[in-house]
Amino acid sequence: MKYNKVNERIIRRLKKIVGERNVTTDPEKLEIYSHDEEGHPRVEVMPEVVVFPETTQQVSKIMKLANEELIPVTPRGAGTGLSGGAVPLYRGIVLSLEKMNRILELDEKNLTITVEPGVVTGEIQKFANRHGLLYAGDPCSGDSSFIGGNVAENAGGNKVIKYGPTGSHVLGLEVVLPNGEVTFFGGKRVKDVTGYNFVQLMIGSEGTLGIVTKIVLRLLPLPKYVVDLLVPFKTMKEAIDFVPIIVREGKIVPTSIEFMDRPSLLLTEQFLNAKLPYDDAEAQLIIELEGNNKSAVEDDYERIGNLCFEHGALEVFVADNRNTRERIWRIRKSIAEAVNALYPANCLEDVVVPTSNIPELMREVDEISRKHNVKAISYGHAGDGNVHVTFLKDEKDSEEVWIKKLKAALEDLYSITKNLGGTISGEHGIGLKRRDYVELVLDKAQIELIKSVKRAFDPNLILNPGKIVRFE
Ligand code: LAC
Ligand code: ZN
Repeated sequence: MKYNKVNERIIRRLKKIVGERNVTTDPEKLEIYSHDEEGHPRVEVMPEVVVFPETTQQVSKIMKLANEELIPVTPRGAGTGLSGGAVPLYRGIVLSLEKMNRILELDEKNLTITVEPGVVTGEIQKFANRHGLLYAGDPCSGDSSFIGGNVAENAGGNKVIKYGPTGSHVLGLEVVLPNGEVTFFGGKRVKDVTGYNFVQLMIGSEGTLGIVTKIVLRLLPLPKYVVDLLVPFKTMKEAIDFVPIIVREGKIVPTSIEFMDRPSLLLTEQFLNAKLPYDDAEAQLIIELEGNNKSAVEDDYERIGNLCFEHGALEVFVADNRNTRERIWRIRKSIAEAVNALYPANCLEDVVVPTSNIPELMREVDEISRKHNVKAISYGHAGDGNVHVTFLKDEKDSEEVWIKKLKAALEDLYSITKNLGGTISGEHGIGLKRRDYVELVLDKAQIELIKSVKRAFDPNLILNPGKIVRFE
């Protein structure tokens, strides 16, 4: 793909659109925008310029200019992505949405909240809670990621088993198309069969089809009582085999069913200098239950607790107050950060399989780890089949040996995942990191459709080029 360079004339025009203070070419600042949090192997590409629009109109004008001048534009949220989606592969303009960070409207009658893409997801959760409402999206990066990025990647997180991923909460999107046109997909309505479902097409499109500038989210009543059960098991197999039993025999869909293996827990405890009550079990489950009636919630957790013991749990810790609940979740949500701190060379994966196949996947991960002699830890969202297998570089391995082992291990992991009816990303996206593996899981017809859809939205291929599929 051939793009034009950002020259002085373009910079002047950008400054005219967004104001001098909202354009930077300072190399130190550009460096921040050259990568996301995807760690290994980290791809860094310096943009030529970063712009910080404050309004939809400004985004529209930037896109119009870039489209006419054939300059690539990479939209960016908080940069917490884990698949290289925000890397400006062909340089050009990084369009940061960090200044479009307002909560625009809470509509309590329709139970919606309308926000700009640069609002931190956790702020939306807190804002809703203050009004007795729940925003049910809950990615582990919620304290730092932006809602716009969550939409772009269809972020999942910890409440998907009950409430679905980000896309389940999105009713409407204002979008700036690559040619600068502004349109609105969906709206404050829970049903809509007027034309194609463009709202859901935008969700998870990784910033390749348009730039989301307003988001209408669905809210729910905030449950009054929340309880977390922390359940250690002697073996990973017992823990994972127990997951479907919770729903089937417990006759309840919990808010969360998370798991972490022992190494994940131990290294996070070390990193945070914190401890959970029982850390020498091979695996732990976190089961969250909620409701409005205290005794009903107690009935639920007693029933689930008994089931846990019947199926090999070593203990059942009940966290029914904010402090103990936060202690558990702080550990769970910090695993990825802890791994990065203690094992800078690691590869965080995001495979997802039908939940009944997690035990088989876990067996295969052990096998891959042995076969390629590479350490692997696992944690993630057991309730929805999304497992964060993370390969760790052994200190003794040279960089070259590690990369070779990693490649072989990844290829095995992806093809086994596929054979188990799964796919290579449940919530982090394809981005750049998995682009060259997409053909493993999508057939030719689908790849061609992806390319046709991309061309329909973006005939000049200027918006986040080089992501999801290869065009050259
Ligand atoms: C988590 C992130 C890595 O679940 O998705 O911790
Ligand atoms: Zn996750």
